[in-house]
Amino acid sequence: MDRHVDVAEPILSGEEKENIDDVLTSGRFLQGPFVEEFEEKWAEYIGTEHAIAVTNGTAAIQLSLKALGMEPGSEVIVPSLTFGSTATAVVHQGGVPVFADIDRELYTLDHLDLERCVTEETFAVMPVHLYGHPAEMDEIQDFADSHDLYVIEDAAQAHGAAYKQRKVGSIGDVGCFSFYATKNITTGEGGIVTTDNDAIAKNLRMLRSHGMANRDNHVTLGYNYRMSELNGAIGTSQVDCLDDLNHRRQEISERLLTELDGLDWLSPATVRDYVEHAYFWAPFEVHPDKLGMTGKEVWDTLREQGVETRHRYNVPLYDQPVFENHRGFNSEFPWSMNPNTHDYDLSLPHVEEVVGNMIGLPNHPNLTEADIEYVIETIRSFEQLV
Ligand SMILES: Cc1ncc(COP(=O)(O)O)c(C=O)c1O
Repeated sequence: MDRHVDVAEPILSGEEKENIDDVLTSGRFLQGPFVEEFEEKWAEYIGTEHAIAVTNGTAAIQLSLKALGMEPGSEVIVPSLTFGSTATAVVHQGGVPVFADIDRELYTLDHLDLERCVTEETFAVMPVHLYGHPAEMDEIQDFADSHDLYVIEDAAQAHGAAYKQRKVGSIGDVGCFSFYATKNITTGEGGIVTTDNDAIAKNLRMLRSHGMANRDNHVTLGYNYRMSELNGAIGTSQVDCLDDLNHRRQEISERLLTELDGLDWLSPATVRDYVEHAYFWAPFEVHPDKLGMTGKEVWDTLREQGVETRHRYNVPLYDQPVFENHRGFNSEFPWSMNPNTHDYDLSLPHVEEVVGNMIGLPNHPNLTEADIEYVIETIRSFEQLV
């Protein structure tokens, strides 16, 4: 088998090299004009007043919690099926994650499970726009408003996705993005926080730079989470091509979802008609009972056939040792600050049904027509292969 189709590839606009060259020539490696330009473009693209660039998406979440004023031991409701740092970022900031079920059709945070999760200690709800599909923001926002909670959007996987005409990252109190290498656009490593709130933005800018108001004053407990100018130089040129890249990603993903509909062992993910999907993944759910194979075995077999797929979040977060065993700051902190038990002895029905069965087919904009046809053919003939 000669053909190999990658699941993700960083795609350059062409200007990155020139910008990097400028940084190297100027010798200005620290957060500077390129980072600022990137922030301005991102704020305009998302439709918020502010965008604050940081070192990565996990730092974006942690800083947001601090900037919003979360106290140690406070709770943040997160979905149980997502990348781990949605929840580890909460712990890093002294908070306690509370794990909610997922929507059975969309795989995002299930707003119908929020009532079970909310307590006196709840500070915020953190929906994740998983795989690039927006979470059900109206219902989540209504719930948060009625319980006086902040909404932090984890939009790490959803560059340019929109919910009822509004870009994700502009709906909650803050939006957190990641520019890790496999994302729709990348800065190598990087992240950004979006918000309309001037005071939170000011706080975020101070927190990312050692909590300093100026060179001599550490006014609050801050971090060094600044984005370097080299990353900013890549980011500012990447934003310019995001819409074109997303457009191609959408075309490829929609084609895969449509052409591969109807197989009994594999279902394309549901896409609501009021969203614009960013298709970080072209997501499909494997039905092991119909196929007699697990999601992992499908992933392995496809790889042997030269089709690389995404197959992640195969353990619910509530079963991860870091949470299950309260492995915080080499002690039970921050759980020790919380009056609730949080033994995470959970088995949430939708999570348990889905976990281990999700795969993402190759959908990046560099795929050729022959690659796409090969992926479709391989999936269609899959049952004869095994
Ligand atoms: C849903 C989600 N949240 C948070 C993150 C963390 O972003 P980063 O890897 O840039 O720290 C990721 C990362 O890849 C993610 O997919």
